[in-house]
Amino acid sequence: MDILNTHPAGDREEPIWTPQTGPPQTDRIPVAVYEAMGETQITAFFHAFYRRLGESSVADLFPKSEQNLMRAADKSAAMFVFLFGGPHVYQKKYGRPMMRARHLPFVIDEAARQEWLRCYRETLDEAPELFAMPAEHVDAVWKFVVDFSAWMVNAETKED
Ligand code: HEM
Repeated sequence: MDILNTHPAGDREEPIWTPQTGPPQTDRIPVAVYEAMGETQITAFFHAFYRRLGESSVADLFPKSEQNLMRAADKSAAMFVFLFGGPHVYQKKYGRPMMRARHLPFVIDEAARQEWLRCYRETLDEAPELFAMPAEHVDAVWKFVVDFSAWMVNAETKED
């Protein structure tokens, strides 16, 4: 364990690990993504994404019941409405984003991030057809989530 890069974590057993790259430097997603999809299609995208998460190897981190899983999907969708160039739906309902802080109760290592990204990628691949995402901006969305998700990692990946 790198003691410079980890610290005890309050009521969480796993110490908090901080990526040495610091907060993400990435590009904004074009506003055209929100304009084409709107809140309805963005929410539908997140329902499909969270269904995949619910069947993935990180399912244990997410709510078990369909109803609560979809509630969690709605919350994430509210954030992505803003990230895709739309209004501050999440901030109005829940306050400041503090994305890394809000993920700290959950132990997220690099393997968990990769599984989350796999589910996101699969949803992204069907998004132009199913959720009206402009195909020309799929790469920009992917780059954003790959970059930004690195900052959600808060546990050192254990060697098997
Ligand atoms: C682009 C990166 C990501 C963004 C923008 C994002 C966004 C969000 C948002 C907005 C929430 C709701 C937070 C709240 O209000 O409490 C959330 C919850 C959550 N996220 Fe992420 N997330 C990202 C990456 C990840 C990754 C890589 C994981 C790893 C598995 C993850 C796991 C979770 C979990 C477990 C929750 C809590 C679900 C619940 O029970 O409500 N997220 N995320």
